Amino acid sequence: MGPTDVQDKNLVEIERLLPGGFGLAHAEGLTLFVALAAPGDILRVKIERKRGSVGFASIIEVVKPSTVRVEPPCPYFGLCGGCDFQQLDYEAQLAAKVEIIRDCLHRIARIETLPDIVMVPSPAQWQYRSRANWQFDPKAKRLGYFARGSHDVCDVEVCAVLRPELQQTLERLREQMREGTLSKKLTDIEAVAGDEDVSLASATTHFRSKEVSRHIGNETYYFGAEAFFQINHELLELLLGEAVGEEHGKTAIDLYSGVGLFTLPLARRFNQVTAVEANSRAVDYAQRNLDAAELDNVEIANMSVAEWLKHWLGFERPEFLLLDPPRSGAEGGVIEGILKVAPQKICYVSCDPATLARDLNKLLEGGYSLDSIVGFDMFPQTHHVETVARLSHSEF
Ligand SMILES: C[S@@+](CC[C@H](N)C(=O)[O-])C[C@H]1O[C@@H](n2cnc3c(N)ncnc32)[C@H](O)[C@@H]1O
Repeated sequence: MGPTDVQDKNLVEIERLLPGGFGLAHAEGLTLFVALAAPGDILRVKIERKRGSVGFASIIEVVKPSTVRVEPPCPYFGLCGGCDFQQLDYEAQLAAKVEIIRDCLHRIARIETLPDIVMVPSPAQWQYRSRANWQFDPKAKRLGYFARGSHDVCDVEVCAVLRPELQQTLERLREQMREGTLSKKLTDIEAVAGDEDVSLASATTHFRSKEVSRHIGNETYYFGAEAFFQINHELLELLLGEAVGEEHGKTAIDLYSGVGLFTLPLARRFNQVTAVEANSRAVDYAQRNLDAAELDNVEIANMSVAEWLKHWLGFERPEFLLLDPPRSGAEGGVIEGILKVAPQKICYVSCDPATLARDLNKLLEGGYSLDSIVGFDMFPQTHHVETVARLSHSEF
């Protein structure tokens, strides 16, 4: 059935899923972005708002479900702002993420011929998240996540994607909320699980968070909740294998290095490594991790990547440069700076295919070519995806 076969003017057929996780449909001369849809669904929708020829719609009724539609198991689905892919079976989630990466690389990076996009599934589709950001509304006595499209707190008793130790922490905080002993200042809570313990931090009130640790492959990483650490620990060994792989040589650069997830394996393979990270707590942990691993061939610059690149005085071209920026991608001046550094190979680790594609476009214009693209399903039940792009320069 094509969109033109849909007679009722409130009915639409979802053509495919787009970056951002929305279902694409066309109706009444509008391009519609339909939340929580599955490709092939026939839906009765309500247009919530319009911007030019684009409308944002919500589902009123699933008239004919897609063959990949499943019943979302979580009672908060649709209310909570967290998961937006629970309506899809797992194969369809993976396929949609491949399409999202392909769409961004094609449309934003303007790459005509793409290498095959491999998607690595998550070993666990539920209870995988070892990091969470919870919101607490002391007046309404609610603890959970922001509700879909709002800053109201959706009260969540059980979160199906949390690792059990974080679920237990959420229950403990909930108990304190009921008893009235949870500080009213703790409106924004960061929680991260290590192998044996959970670390908490808050953006709204300062306290030093507990240090936890995690073994990944042959490395041990120490970190706390006020520094970034990847969410889906079970995929990290594979991610490290793809990003660093068998690379080795004299010099490597690790930009947006956090607590040193990539820095440690790079330090074992290169004579000299430079890591750059803006968060001073993350830098403290990275130094602790290097000391514990008895690696003394790394220099860490505690500053913004843009600032560091402005003052880069390297005379020799590094063999390998890895960058793993936040969702917003590389900030202004960074890609231009990397082109001046001119590494032989680049590995771009990204959690947003759109900003990855924007930055890849500049690297490709700068003479690099795309060797491989691998997606990692770090965030099952959501539209988010981690992508590793490997590039090399034909002239170097
Ligand atoms: C996606 S995380 C990656 C961290 C690390 N590579 C890992 O995998 O654990 C991005 C990191 O960049 C840092 N960061 C954000 N903006 C930055 C900037 N402009 N310059 C340097 N570091 C920045 C954050 O503090 C965070 O540690």
